[in-house]
Parts: sequence; C-alpha cells; structure tokens
Amino acid sequence: MIAIASLPKAELHLHLEGSLEPETIMRLSERNGIALPFADADALRAAYEFDDLQTFLDLFYAGLTVMVTEQDFYEVTREYLEKAADDGVCHAEFHVSVQGHLGRGVSVDTMMSGISRAFEDGAAELGVGASMIFGLQRQRPLEEAEAAFEDFVKHPRWVALVSAIGMGGSEVGYPTAKFRPLYDRARALGWKTTVHAGEEGGPEAVREALDGLAPDRLDHGVRAFEDAELTQELIDSGMTLTVCPLSNLRLKVFDSIEAHPLAKMLRAGLKVTVNSDDPPYFGGYIGANFVAAQRGLGLSDDEIIQLARNSFSGAFLPEDQIGRYLAAFDRAIAGR
Ligand code: ADE
Ligand code: ZN
Repeated sequence: MIAIASLPKAELHLHLEGSLEPETIMRLSERNGIALPFADADALRAAYEFDDLQTFLDLFYAGLTVMVTEQDFYEVTREYLEKAADDGVCHAEFHVSVQGHLGRGVSVDTMMSGISRAFEDGAAELGVGASMIFGLQRQRPLEEAEAAFEDFVKHPRWVALVSAIGMGGSEVGYPTAKFRPLYDRARALGWKTTVHAGEEGGPEAVREALDGLAPDRLDHGVRAFEDAELTQELIDSGMTLTVCPLSNLRLKVFDSIEAHPLAKMLRAGLKVTVNSDDPPYFGGYIGANFVAAQRGLGLSDDEIIQLARNSFSGAFLPEDQIGRYLAAFDRAIAGR
C-alpha cells in the first residue's frame, strides 16, 4: 500500500477556524480572557460528538471567538501549516469565516496581518504554499456578507492573498442564489468560486447551488451522487469535488467509512479530492482522511495517486503553477 505521507498533495477544503485544536482554543481563551463553558481541553474534546452539521457549527462558531489578535491568527494558521507539512501537503487553501471575525470587532488588518505572516513563514520555512478562500456564511443575512466583503476589498494587499470566494454554514433551508451578486463581484476581482453543497442537503441543493452561483468547484458534493443525471453533468463539466470523508462520518452523513461513496464516485469518473474540512473536530488531518479511505474503501495505489493528483489540477492556482506542481508530482510518482 502506498505511503500516504510521502505522496505530495494539496488541501483544497480546510477551514482556518476548524483547524483550532482544543488545546489552542483553551490557550487563546485564557490569553484573551474569553470565557468558554469548558474546564479544559479534554472537556472540550469530549464535546466533539455531533448529531448533524448544526450541532457541529454551534461549537465551531463558539470556538472561533477566541481568535482576537494578529498573533492569534498567526499561530492558528501556522499550527495548521506545520501539521499539513508533516502530511505531505505542498499547497493549502484556507476557508476563512470573515463575518465570524469582523462581527466581533476584529479588524480586517488584524486578521489578515496574522494570516499573511503565517503564509510567508509557511512558504519559507515549511515549503507549503497557501491562499485564502473568502468564506461566506449562508445562514447569515446578505447585507452582513456584503458589508464584510466591502470592508475587505478596500485592502488590495489582502485581496491579493485570496484565490476564491466560498460559502459554508447551515445548508438545509438556506439557498445560495441570493449571494450571486457577491459571486459576480468576486469573479470581477479575478477570484475563483466555490460553494458547500450536497453535504447535508440532497442533489436538489447541489442543483440550486450550481444554478444559483455557477461555481468553479464544489465543496463536499457527495450527495450529488444520489442523482445519476447530476453526476453525469459534474463528470462532463470536469467539476472538482472537495470530499471530506471523516467530516461526513462525524456529521452522520454516512454511517460508516464502508458506506462512504468516495470510491464509487472516483470510479464513476468524478474528479474527487480528499480533504479534512475541520480536522481536530472530525478526528484527523488530510493524511488520516486518505488513510481512512485507503483502508476502509480498499482504494488501490493508482486510485490514491489519482486522488492526490486531482488536488493539484483542481487547485485555485494560475495554470502555469498547476503545471509545475503536476510535473513535480509525476516525477515524484515515477521515482517511487
Ligand atoms: N463550516 C465549517 N465546516 C463546515 C462544513 N463542514 N459545512 C458547512 N460549513 C462549515
Ligand atoms: Zn467545509
């Protein structure tokens, strides 16, 4: 079986705030005087039992309130990049819940100075490249998203660190189409576009997001596979799906790894990738997600290689940079 850590890979679906380890949450909560209803990191970790997406999101939004200073944003970003480097990640795209920070009075400069300093150090010291995905929250008002966007785009040097606009948050009951004007604004800035859909919502939610936003990429998308016609459309359009197996298990989208459709999706011709979403919350970073799929779904070495290769071809990077990553990837595989 191919060794996962030795395989170069990109992580395309990772939430900065979802990478907070319980120990980091407790450390920052003490440092910043933010009270949380947990005695210590073990008590917090014990609360990571989720019934569904919403029970997780409640904790995710509570946890991110400990991020206040530039140093906090630096440390959280850096901690993820160190773990990613150990897992063989060369490039990572971070969803950042901008509204979740600006709404608490954190400034764009505070947030972005810390993130950008970690991106610089991550590239120089760890060899991991990174960009940011401006993550909207679909359950929040459009006006709030617009205000956050306007606040952010006043700063050209931060705009340059963003590769895409994306959208997470509660899925069922929260259609995407009203956010179309912001997606069009993002496209005009040269950003790519992605959206969480088909995680908890069924194929109809994926259809709504495709029609509503015309995204370049789909986050999760696993439930699209319930609809043969939609699946064929996604294959024909070459859509990259950022699948997160351990997330889907912890949020009870599927009962077991054996029941996860990742292998069938890949074999059907969908361009799927493997990602971690919110790793400490769901019990593993990208390497653990690959290993769970490799063992639980009996993926062959060639299939694992295809998944890793898809992560570079599906990345939100300039074409020439994708070409360089793919050439290096193919050399690494040939030299095994
Ligand atoms: N925000 C963080 N993780 C998420 C997920 N898995 N789905 C929707 N929104 C999220
Ligand atoms: Zn996500």
